[in-house]
Order: sequence, then structure tokens, then C-alpha cells
Amino acid sequence: MNYLKYIARTGRINQHPQGRLGTHLLLKKIPHTSEAKTILEIGCGTGHTAAILSNNPFIYYEGIDNMLEMIHFCNKRKKKLNLFNCNFKHHTKNSFPYQDNFFDIVICESVLAIQSPEQYKQIVTEAFRVLKDKGLFIFNETIWCPSTSSDTRQKINTISLSYFNIIQADESASLTSWETTLINHGFKIKHIEEIHDLEKTKYKFVINDFELKSLHYSDKMKYRTLFNPKELSLYLYFKIVNRKVKIEKGILESYIITCEKNSLTYEKP
Ligand SMILES: C[S@@+](CC[C@H](N)C(=O)[O-])C[C@H]1O[C@@H](n2cnc3c(N)ncnc32)[C@H](O)[C@@H]1O
Repeated sequence: MNYLKYIARTGRINQHPQGRLGTHLLLKKIPHTSEAKTILEIGCGTGHTAAILSNNPFIYYEGIDNMLEMIHFCNKRKKKLNLFNCNFKHHTKNSFPYQDNFFDIVICESVLAIQSPEQYKQIVTEAFRVLKDKGLFIFNETIWCPSTSSDTRQKINTISLSYFNIIQADESASLTSWETTLINHGFKIKHIEEIHDLEKTKYKFVINDFELKSLHYSDKMKYRTLFNPKELSLYLYFKIVNRKVKIEKGILESYIITCEKNSLTYEKP
């Protein structure tokens, strides 16, 4: 079963660390200025973050995803909610379909962790290329705790692949290896926030009209699909197998990492 295809068809959202709260914590890292901003989201999923940002006339949002079904759903959400200042592109090539130094901000959530080390490096290279100097690359991702044995990593990834057709996280990735790659590619790490053990009730955030409409739209889609026997059986299947992938506390950890493009200190290899 392909979990990503299922969430694309049913319009699911917030499939990343700390869900809605994670996205709000990430968006809080974008500096508030009166200047207009161009934002790229890598792995835009079904377009919910686009909806949160779309109400702002000072923001122009571009979303890319390597799954065509996701882009179809983004365009459906855009039409249904009358979103403006946003555009979605299907992309499967190594290089992003944008010119150099175009974006002020590049974001992603639960995208880097599921890449191979080579794909991770490629995305970091491309994020660096399309960002303006001093532009920010901000991401919300889950990786393995250093203490998680390679056996456990392998076992969980194998089960996840067979049930969901997607891994939990690249087995070789660590915070240190990610930091090294970012620095070697010209980024300066500005901030690393641990978000795996949050006391959720401590956080309050404002939900704008577009986010609310987008949440309602996804809820409506979810309930509508439950009346479809095929979708209902998939829904139950994923609910059941989710319990089988036993992820105990202390196996995975999640971070929001903010880094800045620093062209001056970077010499192209
Ligand atoms: C786990 S989902 C999270 C999506 C989004 N953050 C959300 O919560 O709805 C990961 C998304 O990244 C996309 N993706 C994975 N690898 C990608 C890549 N190399 N380039 C672009 N998109 C990618 C997937 O198709 C999927 O939509």
C-alpha cells in the first residue's frame, strides 16, 4: 500500500512532526518585515501550508512535490478555497524548476528524513542555489536518536516500507551528519529547536481564516472518503498497521532547523 498516494487522494494534512503545532513553530521562524517574501515549500503535500500563507499579500508561495497526485490535490484546494499568491509544480528532476537566488525562504516538513543521503545532499544543494543570499532554509524533520541501534532502525524501516511504502527515516542520518552537509554546502546553522518532547498545551497560536477553511475542507474530504468502501478499508488498514509499527519513546527525535545561505563564505567545489 502506498501511504503517500492515500493521503494525496484523501487530502490529509499535517503529516509531519507535531502536526499543526510543528507548522506554526516553523512559520514563526520566518522574520516579520514589511518587505514582500518569496517562499518555496519542497514537498508541499496536499497544500495546507500554502493555504495558511496564501492570505498574505506580502507573500508569494511556490510549492513543489514529486508526486503528481499531491499537486492535483493542491490545485483542488486552491480552487475550492480561492487561494491567491500561490502556485504548485510537479517536479521529478534533481534540479528545482527555478532560477538561482529567487527565494527568500525555503521550507519543508517530513521530506528530508525520507531521502537517501545522496538525495538529501541534492536537495540541500538546490535549496542553496534557489535562495537569495541571507535567505533561510527552515525544516521540520524526524531522525533517529543516536542511541537507536542500526538493527532497530532497519527493522522499523523494513516494516514501514512493507506497510506504508515509505521509510521512517534514513538509517544513516544523524543531526551531526545533517549539520556537516549543510555547512559544507554553504549554510550557516542559525537555530536548532528540539520539538519531540513538547508540552503541547503550553503553545497557543492564531489560526487565520484560510487555515480554518483549509482544515474544514480536509475534514470534509476525510469523512466523505469514509463513505467509499475502498477508502474506508484503506483507512482502517492504515489505522491497524500503524499500531504494528511500534515506535517507542526515545527512538526518534524531531527538530526544526533554521539555516542561512551565506554566499560569501562558500567556495564552489
Ligand atoms: C510526509 S509528506 C509531508 C507533506 C506535508 N508536510 C504535509 O504534512 O502534508 C512528504 C511530502 O514530500 C513529498 N516528497 C518526498 N520526496 C520529495 C522530493 N524529493 N521532492 C519533492 N517532494 C518530495 C511527498 O510526495 C509528500 O508530499
